[in-house]
Amino acid sequence: MQASTYQTVGQPLPHESARLHVAGSALYTDDLPERHGTLHAAFGLSDRAHARVLAIDLEAVRSAPGVVDVICLDNIPGHRYLGPVVADEPVLADEFVHYVGQPLFAVAAATHHMARRAARLAKVQYEDLPITLTAQQGAEQASYVLPPVRISRGDIEAALARGPRRHSAELTCGGQEQFYLEGQVAYALPGENAEMQVYCSTQHPSEMQSMVAHVLGQPAHTIRVECRRMGGGFGGKETQSWQFATVAAVLAQRSGKPVKMRADRDDDFLITGKRHDFRTRYDVAYTDDGLITGIKFEHQLRCGYSADLSGAVADRQVFHTDNTYFLDTFDIRSLRVRTNTQSNTAFRGFGGPQGILAIEYVMDDIAMRLGKDALDVRKINFYGREDRNLTPYGMTVEDNVIHELVDQLETTSDYRARREQIRRFNAGSTILKKGLALVPVKFGISFTATHMNQAGALLHIYTDGSVLINHGGTEMGQGLNTKVAQVVAEELGLDIGRVRVSGTDTSKVSNTSATAASTGTDLNGKAAQDAARKIKAALCRYAADHHGCDESQIVFAGNHVMCGDHPPIPFDIFVQSAYKARVPLWSSGFYRTPKIHYDFKTLTGRPFYYFVYCAACAEVVIDTLTGESRLLRADILYDAGRSLNPAVDLGQIEGGFIQGMGWLTTEELWWNDAGRLMTHAPSTYKIPSISDCPAVLNVAFFDNGNAENNIYQSKAVGEPPLPTAVSVLLAIRDAVAATGQGALPVLNAPATPERILDALASVQAPLPTILPDDDTLAEAPPAEIGYD
Ligand code: MTE
Ligand code: HPA
Ligand code: MOS
Repeated sequence: MQASTYQTVGQPLPHESARLHVAGSALYTDDLPERHGTLHAAFGLSDRAHARVLAIDLEAVRSAPGVVDVICLDNIPGHRYLGPVVADEPVLADEFVHYVGQPLFAVAAATHHMARRAARLAKVQYEDLPITLTAQQGAEQASYVLPPVRISRGDIEAALARGPRRHSAELTCGGQEQFYLEGQVAYALPGENAEMQVYCSTQHPSEMQSMVAHVLGQPAHTIRVECRRMGGGFGGKETQSWQFATVAAVLAQRSGKPVKMRADRDDDFLITGKRHDFRTRYDVAYTDDGLITGIKFEHQLRCGYSADLSGAVADRQVFHTDNTYFLDTFDIRSLRVRTNTQSNTAFRGFGGPQGILAIEYVMDDIAMRLGKDALDVRKINFYGREDRNLTPYGMTVEDNVIHELVDQLETTSDYRARREQIRRFNAGSTILKKGLALVPVKFGISFTATHMNQAGALLHIYTDGSVLINHGGTEMGQGLNTKVAQVVAEELGLDIGRVRVSGTDTSKVSNTSATAASTGTDLNGKAAQDAARKIKAALCRYAADHHGCDESQIVFAGNHVMCGDHPPIPFDIFVQSAYKARVPLWSSGFYRTPKIHYDFKTLTGRPFYYFVYCAACAEVVIDTLTGESRLLRADILYDAGRSLNPAVDLGQIEGGFIQGMGWLTTEELWWNDAGRLMTHAPSTYKIPSISDCPAVLNVAFFDNGNAENNIYQSKAVGEPPLPTAVSVLLAIRDAVAATGQGALPVLNAPATPERILDALASVQAPLPTILPDDDTLAEAPPAEIGYD
């Protein structure tokens, strides 16, 4: 990678809290010293998936040891229905419950255990109602949280009929629990004159502030939300921290005591939403070379009982159904299915991985049908540089580097030679079979909701020359604060040790967006840079006046300020003299992403400022008797632009890839027929551990700038690595295919041993000879959208 020309930006500096993390002295919300008299709260949960609540007897709860207060929906003083987009979620259940785990009431007691024990004592009478559990069931019943969306170009039926080759099939893929190590938690402290301070583990302090204000029926200026750090969020705390924050605040207001609400792991699993699982049906036509000539998708996304962010997640699935491929004639439908399950929400990738998996699965289908190497089929479908570069949503791909990036990974991973080695290995091995797959990713960066692409910062320089930066983003382990500190240090020519980032606080920077969509550094880094540049401009005017030098010649570097011929002035001496000359040493900063616009009704425009490109090559081995699989080696090439911090970025790439592998291999969410989630603890829900990581994991950065003026020409790194793990699933499918006689392996995700055994059985079936010649997908509703 090209050496950085900067002092601090581009350096592989350790995470700003790394030492605190390993020493156990980093404070998370539950570690904050508790105020005297603190109460602890717990929810009573619905144990029906869909029912009318006929009667609820809370006498035993109220009289349980230590209980101070018990509240239901009627006790909420302000707004009773909330939601990030649609206010369709009651703070506590109303007359109806919509999933097993829905909070029905809340208890405040002297201790956490007393509150949890008491919450079990309620006697609830239900009248059961019919339940809808899966995306497929919901789609069949046209049960939606939001109306279906469809985008299309050209005459899809004619293209499919023309072929010359065609097939249709379907794929299902499971959801994923965010499994942040620190669960949901909020600590509400009542103050004077109706003030409420809430410490909350959340990616979105401003939304928590606004929701607490609504629920209490108070103005936002009475509520202050702070979050120093999270022990992981992964999207699960973009919206769904609200129920903990609001209910803790209501109980605190009623009792006049501080109230903490911390979810036990099982309750967290039962209450909160996850990654959207989905079923996709597709019908594709292609040439003998494997070039797609027409493709039709219907994505059925399980949204759960309410809208939450499902509209935006489903949109992002549509926006990533092309991945790195030009689709000339297409028809993509997206169904946002309502079910009696947790309300699914953001999870790293936010629908993007779901779109990418769908088309990558189809690429493999085509290659297997044609007897070609899947990489060759992928390549001929890539977006072009000058033509064939219009996305399905009408944005032109201008920064395409996928050809060069994939060529480089093909070489560095030794793809062709290993393909041959694996073929030979498989020929000589009956029980163990190996598989290989190289999967590219193109990931769009920006919130699709244009207005969310803004950020603010507040920068203070103290007279000893130390610097404090506060910004609207939240730290969840991803290294945002480290990168923002690097930006500020670079701008002011200081060592990183002179810059400290303080916790996110709604009373310092207001109306912030969630830290999400991988935009944390892009937005807040630019806002912090703006603040630093404003102070620098004021300091330069002062120095020019004071030392009689040219303003444009003043340089801030190496903890000094250079003003023309004047000897370098130590930064602290310089700011002291500026302070005495009454120059303000603090400033706000602001940033809004340029160029983007997007019409959410037609799903067209330029939703993304730029694209991140990356690719992974995965080699696996499966045991055909037990269905077990293991990732042996992975090579990842990632375009981080000019990486702000290659050490932090490396961690994000490895972590994202392994988290994606968990989604597609071992993490299985399973609801029983009554709609109860049975996999709600690490005993039954298997996330990857260190022993699941491959012995060989090579990560390299692709040498590239950002074609757009992003912060120091870097590119985002939070989410795009995750879908590179599609390579692991497809490598498993490749290994399964090696056992058959040419039939297409049906491998749904997650590829647990059971599903791998099913897939092995599927390749023993004969290849269907009669292909469907009529439209096998249900008629779409009248085109809301479509352009030629
Ligand atoms: N990395 C860690 N360690 N913990 C997290 O919770 N969340 C991911 C990603 N990387 C996450 C993480 C998600 S979902 C997003 S959107 C981005 O970080 C958000 O941070 P950024 O925009 O600052 O990259
Ligand atoms: N990504 C992540 N979170 C979001 C988005 C998005 O595009 N839109 C709203 N919240
Ligand atoms: Mo990330 S899913 O955008 O919080």
